[in-house]
Amino acid sequence: MSPSVSAPRLAGLLTGGSPRGTDDGPAYRSLAEGVRRLVADGRLLAGTRLPSERELTAALGVSRTTVAAAYGVLRERGYLQSRRGSGSVVSLPTGPVPGGPLSPVDGLAPDVLDLTIAAHAATPGLAEAYEEAMAALPHHLPGTGYHPYGLPEVRELLAERYTARGLPTDPSQVLVTTGALAGLGLALRALGSPGDRALVESPSYPNAMAAIRGAGLRTVGLALDEDGLDADGLDVTLRQSAARLAYLVPDFHNPTGTLVGDPTREQVARVLRRRRTTALVDETPVDLALDRPESAMPAPMASYDDRVVTLGSAAKSYWGGLRVGWLRVPLADTGRFQQARLTLDLGAAVVEQLVLAALLRRRDELLARRREQLRASRAAMVSALAEHLPDWRFTVPEGGLCLWCRLPEPRSSALADAAPAHGLRLAPGSAFGVDGGLESFCRLPMALPPDLATEAVRRVARAWDDAVTGTPARSARPVIVA
Ligand SMILES: Cc1ncc(COP(=O)(O)O)c(C=O)c1O
Repeated sequence: MSPSVSAPRLAGLLTGGSPRGTDDGPAYRSLAEGVRRLVADGRLLAGTRLPSERELTAALGVSRTTVAAAYGVLRERGYLQSRRGSGSVVSLPTGPVPGGPLSPVDGLAPDVLDLTIAAHAATPGLAEAYEEAMAALPHHLPGTGYHPYGLPEVRELLAERYTARGLPTDPSQVLVTTGALAGLGLALRALGSPGDRALVESPSYPNAMAAIRGAGLRTVGLALDEDGLDADGLDVTLRQSAARLAYLVPDFHNPTGTLVGDPTREQVARVLRRRRTTALVDETPVDLALDRPESAMPAPMASYDDRVVTLGSAAKSYWGGLRVGWLRVPLADTGRFQQARLTLDLGAAVVEQLVLAALLRRRDELLARRREQLRASRAAMVSALAEHLPDWRFTVPEGGLCLWCRLPEPRSSALADAAPAHGLRLAPGSAFGVDGGLESFCRLPMALPPDLATEAVRRVARAWDDAVTGTPARSARPVIVA
């Protein structure tokens, strides 16, 4: 069954908030433009059933002819399809284009700035952590090196960290993986079956959406509003879709940067229980709180619902190159996850786990430095945007790695196409949408050092000029040299 939007809700979206129809021209054009903007903004997702003409007429207090003509224009332009028995369903003129995974590239020309990846260089202190790991290694060499669920000392350290955050955790609940994305793969193997539905926020992290589809599950989008996750919207979408799993990023969401507060977490947990949906909560960015002490962070989602599976990673806190992440699973599910792990990759590398242990022992000091760097990058980016792209809008995130910018015109793909000619790689907004769309947005990672962040924004501004003026993408410079 297609998810649907009720007439009062659509009327509210059209008349409230920023995405209004234009006030010029005939009323039906203005209404069609309003709906088109909601699609470009990702507030209306492809596949959503719109209310009937009669219902929307009543909710908006306009004439039936206006609504009929607006639906007609939207149909003509590819934004609506009428399906027998399903009414009018939102579509994208390009067709549903689920963004593929974002792909880091090797051999990037040295002067190219890559804004497709929200990741830092290694944390200062990483080399010392490797030295510590090498010193500890001889102790492990007489063993086989197979630790499919993780080195006991690492599982203990990770369990202690959850416990310190107010979520009592036994080391047996922790499985060390080769990253959060691999953790998601493991969770899907343990809990999902091909054909199941999995709810994903839209926008969301493209590689997670691709992993879910790759495991044979069907993604169901939940449009995020300005404040992030909305428990009522979640309830409606879960009721309509009966999704068994939900992939959520409540801590400094990628790409929007929003942090879900405790009251919403509590409501979300209630909805998840009512709908019997298991949440896979990705906490990859959780250590990157920039404007509040860790002690003021909301409680982990798993402390509100003990069926939550939590994904963690060393990638954003320390370094992506470690390829170490972990899962915290419900006590009752440990056997199931351990079985699934034995069919996957038999564990993460011992040395990198020892490095993680060394990093975790110095976490406070290392994270303080990481956050300091990130604050400086954020400040540089925000001031460069004010100078070079003053009509771009964004909320300064209080943590994480991403600025999610609303563009004055829905030209994100044209912007991404124009970027390489300016020595830049950019992902279009559509990459983050569950079925594409989101042409009014662009994600700018804040991971570059301040001088490069400023230069990146200058290049974005030049590429934006090309996108707005329709200058054909030039391929004057090679982006990749190897
Ligand atoms: C929300 C989220 N989850 C997971 C990952 C990937 O984590 P890992 O490198 O540990 O697989 C990223 C990387 O950008 C991310 O933003």
